[in-house]
Amino acid sequence: MKNIREQESLENKNVLLRLDLNVPLKNGFITDPTRIDKILPVINFLIKKNSKIIVISHIGRPKGKINKDLSLKPICEYLEKKIDKKIKLINENVFKLNKKNLFKDPKDQIIFLENIRFYYEEEKNDLDFSKHLAGLADLYVNDAFSCSHRAHASVCKITEFLPSFAGLQFETEINALKKVTSEIKKPITCIIGGSKISTKIGLIKNLIPKFDNVIIVGGMANNILKNKGKPIGKSVKEENCESIINEIFETSKKYSCSIYYPEDVMVGKNLDDNSQAKELNDVSYDDFILDIGIKTINKIKNIIENSQTVLWNGPAGYFENPNFAKGSYEIAKAIIKKNNDISIYSVAGGGDTVALINQINAIKDFNFVSTAGGAFLEYLEGKELPGIKALK
Ligand code: 3PG
Repeated sequence: MKNIREQESLENKNVLLRLDLNVPLKNGFITDPTRIDKILPVINFLIKKNSKIIVISHIGRPKGKINKDLSLKPICEYLEKKIDKKIKLINENVFKLNKKNLFKDPKDQIIFLENIRFYYEEEKNDLDFSKHLAGLADLYVNDAFSCSHRAHASVCKITEFLPSFAGLQFETEINALKKVTSEIKKPITCIIGGSKISTKIGLIKNLIPKFDNVIIVGGMANNILKNKGKPIGKSVKEENCESIINEIFETSKKYSCSIYYPEDVMVGKNLDDNSQAKELNDVSYDDFILDIGIKTINKIKNIIENSQTVLWNGPAGYFENPNFAKGSYEIAKAIIKKNNDISIYSVAGGGDTVALINQINAIKDFNFVSTAGGAFLEYLEGKELPGIKALK
């Protein structure tokens, strides 16, 4: 995979830049701009090189139809302020655009095409659409790692028609993920949470052979507790996952990976309740398990303390209610402490985990926090991502 840094001549070249500006919007306002902030380096790099930049991104899932609520306008406005430069958002149908007319005004350096998913051809990985987009530029840069699990036109097919490069953020993301998949410094620990164990089984199975410890917390741990004969009251659980759990424990024995799950818990009678500490056997029929208990926290802290690498995906409890956020905060604090001593390499990812780390303003205290959802998980599952394959 070639990186855009390696390309010598970028002066006055039209660069088609695929970004993932799929940020959460509420009434037209961006509620979390992390993804936009992360692509500033590639934009600034191309500005410095005097390239002409054509940005392509999607937002939401408009399914091939124009949807004003999913316009890239608020993102352009945010970015304009960040880089202090005018951005032109083109609403015209892309099939009407041609290379000669795009940068007619010499003052224009950055143009945005409107949400690329307004075209049904995008998700179809359509050949003519890709060819047409490619015809607007001299080269293609993908700085949207978080879209690389999608075999879409502006991620995959387009690379057949232009010299193609990975962007700066793309490379950073892959280098960080390599440190928890192929270039591992041991002991290595994974802390995995969230509510559905079936959505993480691919990931857990792929990590067990390489990892020393897998710690399962959050709603998904309830399934393990139930499987081990413990009462879980009204707690969230998934049906029919006994075989998944048996598989996890059997595989872990084969590879000498230790599996940990809660030894004690915090419960409430509803999601808004105060927290009450309970031993596993004391959970009653009307309790919801909503966080890990202090014994479990201390155990996890000890494991982190003895690890050289840690991967964290999924909170330990229902952190939306601060009464049940202690487990997740203590995990974060333990990782941050080791990070500050420069004695651990830490990678975190997943929507809830990123939100939690953001809440305590600690993004910079981890070596890498991934904003990629599906792509992050699929990479860790060991799958070959179409967007990466295309760049290769
Ligand atoms: C994401 O948010 O993970 C990417 O932007 C991909 O979005 P999608 O899941 O709608 O394809």
